[in-house]
Amino acid sequence: MDRKFLMTAFGYAILGLVLGVYMGISQNHGQLVAHAHIMLLGFVVSFIYAVCYKLWLPTATGGLGTAQFWTHQVGTLGLSVGLYILYGGLMAPQKIGPVLGIFSITALISLILMKVMLIRANKTS
Ligand code: HEM
Ligand code: HEM
Repeated sequence: MDRKFLMTAFGYAILGLVLGVYMGISQNHGQLVAHAHIMLLGFVVSFIYAVCYKLWLPTATGGLGTAQFWTHQVGTLGLSVGLYILYGGLMAPQKIGPVLGIFSITALISLILMKVMLIRANKTS
């Protein structure tokens, strides 16, 4: 699981930096919120999850780990694309807003699942 998170972390890093470089070149910083969240939620938080699995959850390959991985991926990708749409003015805020809410909660569920797994691992060690 740590390797899966490591791989996706660097995928988001490339995506977020491309958007950062694009903002720099175009001198249009309108997508800074999408860029910031692709870098922080996509790259930094995924990397932190990879470290958590590597150091404290080396055997977490079951249902909870799989659910934690996919909720983070779906939440982060959805939020990244949704923020890009919102700040690019590609859709009305009242339409994209609830969609962003759903993906935000999906990412939050992933964080809670990580906390649950860490508590369980702490009890058994
Ligand atoms: C090639 C590298 C990068 C480029 C060209 C770049 C470009 C930019 C630009 C143009 C902005 C908008 C600044 C503004 O208008 O205030 C920005 C904001 C931001 N970037 Fe990057 N960035 C890069 C790397 C990173 C990395 C590695 C991270 C984090 C891991 C990051 C996190 C952020 C954050 C959090 C903001 C929002 C800051 C705020 O609230 O004002 N960036 N970046
Ligand atoms: C479910 C996940 C998240 C949601 C729904 C969320 C939501 C938001 C919102 C609504 C803003 C204000 C944007 C604006 O300026 O209009 C914001 C800004 C910011 N968030 Fe998040 N956030 C999330 C996760 C994170 C995480 C994990 C980090 C850091 C590790 C982070 C760091 C920041 C930073 C640095 C800013 C200020 C830069 C900016 O304006 O984009 N966020 N976030």
